[in-house]
Amino acid sequence: MTKANLNWVVLGPGAIGGLIAGALLEHGQSVSVLPRKNRTREINWQVTHKQFKADYSAPVITQPLAENTVFIISVKAFDVIQALQRITTLRGFNKAIPIIISHNGMVELPEPLKELNLHPLVTTHGAVRSRNENADLCIQHRGAGRSWLEVDPAVRNQPTDFDPGLVLQQAFPPLTLEQDLSQRRWLKFVINCVINPLTAVHQCANGELLKGSWQAQVYSLVAEAVAVANSQNVSLTTEECYKEVLLVAKETALNHSSMLQDIQQQRRTEINQLTGYLVNTGKTAGVATPTHQQLLNEFQQRYSG
Ligand SMILES: NC(=O)c1ccc[n+]([C@@H]2O[C@H](COP(=O)([O-])OP(=O)(O)OC[C@H]3O[C@@H](n4cnc5c(N)ncnc54)[C@H](OP(=O)(O)O)[C@@H]3O)[C@@H](O)[C@H]2O)c1
Repeated sequence: MTKANLNWVVLGPGAIGGLIAGALLEHGQSVSVLPRKNRTREINWQVTHKQFKADYSAPVITQPLAENTVFIISVKAFDVIQALQRITTLRGFNKAIPIIISHNGMVELPEPLKELNLHPLVTTHGAVRSRNENADLCIQHRGAGRSWLEVDPAVRNQPTDFDPGLVLQQAFPPLTLEQDLSQRRWLKFVINCVINPLTAVHQCANGELLKGSWQAQVYSLVAEAVAVANSQNVSLTTEECYKEVLLVAKETALNHSSMLQDIQQQRRTEINQLTGYLVNTGKTAGVATPTHQQLLNEFQQRYSG
């Protein structure tokens, strides 16, 4: 199959963005980077996988945007709106340009941004970004995972090799193309709303949550989050989500959750886009979330005071 001549633009690159951008370069794709500040013409980064290390380099984007541009935005949830607004101001931007967007948590977009050609991506890869002693960007690919990308039904029915979803599927496997990712996004959201704040408040590894003493709280958190999901017409069940939470805690038993890492490194957390969003959505829908509210209070007492 011939490779499509797409022009991928990756924001950052951050941990996940840099991982995907590296995979696209390995696949012979044209990649450029939109950094927060244009200080250089080129961005270099290294990705360390279990078996090997790879060095990558990509130019900073130029304007007007090239034909067949595809954006990849993988930013913290609190940066999503600003990131989207920024790309809409780039010369040559139009609303038909595909934007692959990946973040944890939920974000309510302002109306004009909802009209963009957004394709949510869910991924279970684990990656950590740091700088080495020379201040070079280093991304450690700690956990190989899988991904799901929301695509238009026409792409699934009549795929062409010019489609970003199909190119990404080849470059960054395993990746499944789906028509509607809302259920998968909510499942990940429920899992994150349990594991992230709990491990951040109690400063423990994910596997700690498997202990019997946690189960009443973990189960309540899951049940309340599922009730909110159901109020948004997402059909998840408490039993399936509780099982998933335990599975993720088991499979990542020794890991520190991303929220705990953010706390340890004194970075801003995604608590407002996780527990905050859940509690507010519950309030609007008339679904009580007392266990999440309590956890949010503990989090705020511990880290905002
Ligand atoms: N890392 C993981 O293992 C993982 C796994 C699954 C899901 N997630 C989720 O995926 C999302 C991204 O995570 P991540 O770990 O990849 O984050 P990250 O390493 O912080 O990367 C985000 C990148 O986007 C850049 N950025 C943000 N706003 C920008 C803007 N307006 N213009 C240009 N660049 C901008 C950031 O720049 P600055 O450095 O200047 O802020 C950073 O380079 C989060 O919601 C996270 O929870 C992460």
